[in-house]
Amino acid sequence: MEYISHSEAETEAIGERLAAALSPGAVVAYRGGLGMGKTAFTRGLARGLGCRGRVTSPTFTIVNEYEGAIPLFHFDMYRLNGSEDLFDIGWEDYLSRGGVCAVEWSEQVADALPEDAVTVTLSRHPDHDGWRIITVEGGSAS
Ligand SMILES: Nc1ncnc2c1ncn2[C@@H]1O[C@H](COP(=O)(O)OP(=O)(O)OP(=O)(O)O)[C@@H](O)[C@H]1O
Ligand SMILES: [Mg+2]
Repeated sequence: MEYISHSEAETEAIGERLAAALSPGAVVAYRGGLGMGKTAFTRGLARGLGCRGRVTSPTFTIVNEYEGAIPLFHFDMYRLNGSEDLFDIGWEDYLSRGGVCAVEWSEQVADALPEDAVTVTLSRHPDHDGWRIITVEGGSAS
């Protein structure tokens, strides 16, 4: 599925819509560079999952947890050196806790991602700095 987002709010809304299609245990793996809207998209996911709390970037904490109808575990792998570091912080436990794991900079930990991860790729639209092309691929339903 491919979307064009014209604003941060629209990116959030696309995330919120995706949340409705996710089951407990789903992994959302983001691709896309600095400032492309991964955290904004995750804010929408949180809303769609019925999570409480304000979603902020987990850049320095590596993972933020949000309680909700389906909990959300929001990872930022930017500062990680590879999937070994991810296993050290308990990745397998997170996978089995019945939440959704949303992973920024998933390229850093490609070999730790399940095959049925949903890949969300965000890139800048060539016509406008504030537009994004967002593609959603994979998942167990497709
Ligand atoms: N269409 C859009 N969708 C999302 N964000 C947008 C859009 N247009 C402009 N922006 C701006 O881009 C920035 C996106 O920031 P955000 O933290 O969500 O990105 P990120 O991909 O998580 O970045 P990082 O790699 O640093 O974690 C915000 O400042 C937001 O206002
Ligand atoms: Mg971010």
